[in-house]
Amino acid sequence: MAKQIQAIRGMNDCLPEDTAKWQQVERALRQVVAAYGYSEIRTPIVENTDLFKRSIGEVTDIVEKEMYTFDDRNSESLTLRPEGTASCVRAGNQHGLLYNQEQRLWYMGPMFRYERPQKGRYRQFHQFGCEVFGLNGPDIDAELIMLTARLWNVFGIRDKVKLQLNSLGSNEARANYRAKLVEYLQLHQDKLDEDSKRRMLSNPLRVLDSKDPAVQQILQDAPTLLEYLDDESREHLDGLCLLLDGAGIEYEINHRLVRGLDYYNRTVFEWVTTSLGAQGTVCAGGRYDGLVEQLGGRATPAVGFAMGIERLILLLDTLGQLHHSDSQADLYILGSGEYTDVVANALAEKIRDGLPKLRVMNHRGGGNFKKQFKRADKSGAQIALIVGEDEITNDQVTLKYLRTGAEQVTISQDQLLEHLSEYFV
Ligand code: HAM
Repeated sequence: MAKQIQAIRGMNDCLPEDTAKWQQVERALRQVVAAYGYSEIRTPIVENTDLFKRSIGEVTDIVEKEMYTFDDRNSESLTLRPEGTASCVRAGNQHGLLYNQEQRLWYMGPMFRYERPQKGRYRQFHQFGCEVFGLNGPDIDAELIMLTARLWNVFGIRDKVKLQLNSLGSNEARANYRAKLVEYLQLHQDKLDEDSKRRMLSNPLRVLDSKDPAVQQILQDAPTLLEYLDDESREHLDGLCLLLDGAGIEYEINHRLVRGLDYYNRTVFEWVTTSLGAQGTVCAGGRYDGLVEQLGGRATPAVGFAMGIERLILLLDTLGQLHHSDSQADLYILGSGEYTDVVANALAEKIRDGLPKLRVMNHRGGGNFKKQFKRADKSGAQIALIVGEDEITNDQVTLKYLRTGAEQVTISQDQLLEHLSEYFV
């Protein structure tokens, strides 16, 4: 036998048994963003490599080691998008959507990062995200967090995710803090692991993210970002906390929360769960007031978040919150006799015309009644619609109720649509 080709490691097929769950989640996501007046934006999956270097930052894990970058036939360096924010800003700038305007956008789609695959971490994964442009107060930060909290409510997992919040302050405040942090880390250099030593020189705030126990120990007494916060950023954070308190949303201020992308300032947040093991961050975001200008646009405040749909579905599945049926059809049409196929096809099309929401499956591939009923049962249909020779002669159909045990009935074809619409109200 010829050798089979497998999917790329960390890039998953979504099989029919799973797509029902995805659709259920996607429907809920669309409904909630619509309830807040957000509009969908769709951008290409491939962008110029520079877009991600200039936004996410050269000295970040994503840009240093995780991007799928290649030269196209024209020797231009292209990259499969590792996230959605940079593309939204690029598109907003390119089409003049941002300057002096308010935009509330959302997107959903595949992202690509060359990470080590494990539960909840993949090389092709999907993000659902929101980005808001043109608003600089804490009220919009609060709106985004309330929107995500509503999602947890809709999915019945509100008590399973915890909100962590921090402020990265202004560029200036962060630069002051960075200098103090480096001073402190240098005093303890001998206890830092190699990765932290390297980060201390290239991107010191990322040391705060270290999982190394010895580094964690040292960080206990490190200066914190909050001590260096500028007045305006502190007011912004206080304002946000007040609004979250008012909305009944609990949070924990986490001084060490810095995020892995360089474009953030002021508010950063993450929704974290303990039910997923190591990959517990379901949703993350923050402010990036400098990015629009950094990518060539006119200064425009911005804030957003993104959540990993695989992680969300894993969490919902773990907690038993996804209810979907495996059925592929409501009605299964079968029969035997010379003209059955012609009559059955015509009936099926008539039902689809009259009752477009009903899922109608025609038996294909022949076989005796026993085989046909087996297929009908497997389809999950409620009703088998039988078109036999007698039925054809008398312009009738027979309905057999597959799940309720109700007695089968034979009715005239003229009554069929009415009968079905009453049954499937
Ligand atoms: P991020 O923290 O890199 O932020 O990713 C956001 C979310 O995407 C994560 O919390 C996680 O749920 C999911 N995710 C990330 N990497 C993977 C992976 N390899 N496999 C599965 N899920 C993953 C951003 O991407 C920012 N653009 C968020 C943002 C939007 N900030 C402002 N606006």
